[in-house]
Amino acid sequence: MIVLDQENRVFTLHTLNTTYQMKADQYNVLLHTYYGSRLEDCDFSALIRCDDRSFTPNPSEAGNNRNYSLDVMPQEYSTCGVGDFRLPAIELELANGSHTADLRYEGFRLEKGKYTLEGLPGFYSTEDEAETLVIILKDIAAQVVLELYYSVFEIYDLITRTVRVINQGTEEIRLCRCASLCLDYLRSDMDLITFNAHNLMERCLDRGPLRSGIQSVGSVRGISSHQHNPFVILCDRDANEEMGMCYGAMLLYSGNFEMAVECSQYENSRLVMGIHPYHFCFTLTQGQVFTAPEAAMVCSPNGFGQMSRQYHRAIRKHLLRDPYEGRRKPVLVNNWEATYFDFNADRLVGLAREASALGIELFVMDDGWFGSRNNDNSGLGDWQVNLEKLPGGLEALVPRIKNMGMKFGIWMEPEMVNEDSHLYSVHPDWVLHVPGRAPSRGRGQLVLDFSRKDVRDHIYEQMKEVLSSADISYLKWDMNRSLTDVWSAALTARSQGEVYHRYVLGVYDLLERLHCDYPHILIEGCCGGGGRFDGGMLYYTPQIWCSDDTDAIDRLRIQYGTSFCYPACTMGAHVSAVPNEQNGRITPLKTRGITAMSGAFGYEMDLGKCTAVEKMEIQRQVDSYKTHYDLLHDGDYYRLSSPFQDNAYTAWEQVSADQREALVSVVYDRIGAAPLFDTLRLKGLNPTFQYRIEGTDSLHSGEELMRSGYSISQKQEDYFAFQIFLRAVE
Ligand code: GLA
Repeated sequence: MIVLDQENRVFTLHTLNTTYQMKADQYNVLLHTYYGSRLEDCDFSALIRCDDRSFTPNPSEAGNNRNYSLDVMPQEYSTCGVGDFRLPAIELELANGSHTADLRYEGFRLEKGKYTLEGLPGFYSTEDEAETLVIILKDIAAQVVLELYYSVFEIYDLITRTVRVINQGTEEIRLCRCASLCLDYLRSDMDLITFNAHNLMERCLDRGPLRSGIQSVGSVRGISSHQHNPFVILCDRDANEEMGMCYGAMLLYSGNFEMAVECSQYENSRLVMGIHPYHFCFTLTQGQVFTAPEAAMVCSPNGFGQMSRQYHRAIRKHLLRDPYEGRRKPVLVNNWEATYFDFNADRLVGLAREASALGIELFVMDDGWFGSRNNDNSGLGDWQVNLEKLPGGLEALVPRIKNMGMKFGIWMEPEMVNEDSHLYSVHPDWVLHVPGRAPSRGRGQLVLDFSRKDVRDHIYEQMKEVLSSADISYLKWDMNRSLTDVWSAALTARSQGEVYHRYVLGVYDLLERLHCDYPHILIEGCCGGGGRFDGGMLYYTPQIWCSDDTDAIDRLRIQYGTSFCYPACTMGAHVSAVPNEQNGRITPLKTRGITAMSGAFGYEMDLGKCTAVEKMEIQRQVDSYKTHYDLLHDGDYYRLSSPFQDNAYTAWEQVSADQREALVSVVYDRIGAAPLFDTLRLKGLNPTFQYRIEGTDSLHSGEELMRSGYSISQKQEDYFAFQIFLRAVE
């Protein structure tokens, strides 16, 4: 609900559990006055204190009033060069060479439903599911207008934001920074949580207190990256899963980003998040508009669990565009770890046959089916079937797979080219490269200049040929290197600061074309595993391959970190062979199944090599996944323990919306000769319901299971895992 107090120029956004407020003050400065637990009928500006503080200049309208300074007051969208020395949200370079921005309140408007962003991903709604407030700010000297958009998704405690910058002057301006979100707090006694690490170990949770100065994470790799994720949390120092105030901030963007928090001199703090300013500079001529990517905030007064569940619900309902919406997605098998590049049609059909007999429903042909692609160094860019490997092309292969009752999926890496390819021999100028400098290779490949429409059109034509040549139900869109040598032959020297962003817009453009032309195709995002696991990609690819590390124990950490923002149904997760291809670890098949099942489930191994007993276990897993699909994909997610803490096990739980069913998964990653007796306290149950634990006769009340807990014990077996299914009795 949006509440306007026009007389006092106070704007309040209420969600189910939270309130967000801003106010235009006597000098038309838009102050951020409050974000936290829901409170009615308050003007929180009384909390803001001003005093005469040296070295904090005063705007000219304040005359000799030295008590008023932008530098100590919480700003809704921070400016630069006019008295606020903290992190700027915007930086403008005017034709006269100045680098100042001074934004003052001009007005507002209300809109029904959610705003839309042309060419950029965002949450969506019907007119009744969200409402929008637009605040208009103006820099009079620069003749620049800023529209700050806020959409409120009340039941999810979700507020989405974006910013439009409009050049209303006659002279060119250059936009050197344009954050999507600026959030000021009148406190700095908080922890910052970020999700970091590297390829093969993405989104590991890192938590620490805010310190004086600036702390930041980000990416200048042209992708949101394996190293840092565009989702962060600020929270009370003692916040945990059930308790404490926490603020989630998510950027729906798949390229360079920066998240920076500054603790300032008077123990205030500011979070700024948006496109990374490195090599970013957009020129706006008269009337031109720049739209920043969307940011999405969820505040939870009751710990991380509630915050995550609200994000999960909102993402599932209002961000994903899943062709299987309301239907169960097929269980897949992917041939990558089974064959790498070494396959032919018969080998693939053989793999599919084994999978089909075990109840697997979708066969995905990974890298190596096209051009001269027999290793990393050739073929990318030539999206024509390699007829030596697949005689008769997809027209011959796909019906063989479909005849077994399976769907067919295919891998592509549209943004890339190998020098050893027909495409590169004809269009060497289509790659990102700086004139006079030989571009760096990554995995032996170069990056196509996706900021160029002609390049995208050419790739899209090739993709269409492939996708229309057979009955294809699934596409894995991969991307296997970071961007370097970022320069586009299609832009002038002055516009090169636009290439990184235009590249991302180009990726979105092609994904949107696919979405419109092939609405039935499920697209899985991938970037050497989880290098582009962000809200931007999720708008186009409702599931993303979580990591190239398929080891069940490493995955506990990866999936745990990922779950803080992103729902389980978005995490591509496969059972693979042991010893694991990435780390050599040997885990039981059951453990691998339990870990992968809490995601978009599949297999990535040669099932023909499994023993009869293993095949029975796989069949059981597939059946169990199908049985519990709604719970696993749409259930409320509870983290019961953390793989980063000193427990012998990691446990999590999915609970149905009506609380009548719950599935608990427990994986031990340590073994002891005299293991402790563990008690698992469940969450999210109805205290008054009686639950029967599947496979036992015992009944337990929800209250008992949540308060005193349920006794679990470890078997003397490495990486032992089990699930507990509970159903409420009438
Ligand atoms: C990336 C992906 C893998 C696989 C290979 C194929 O590494 O993450 O899953 O598709 O590319 O080259």
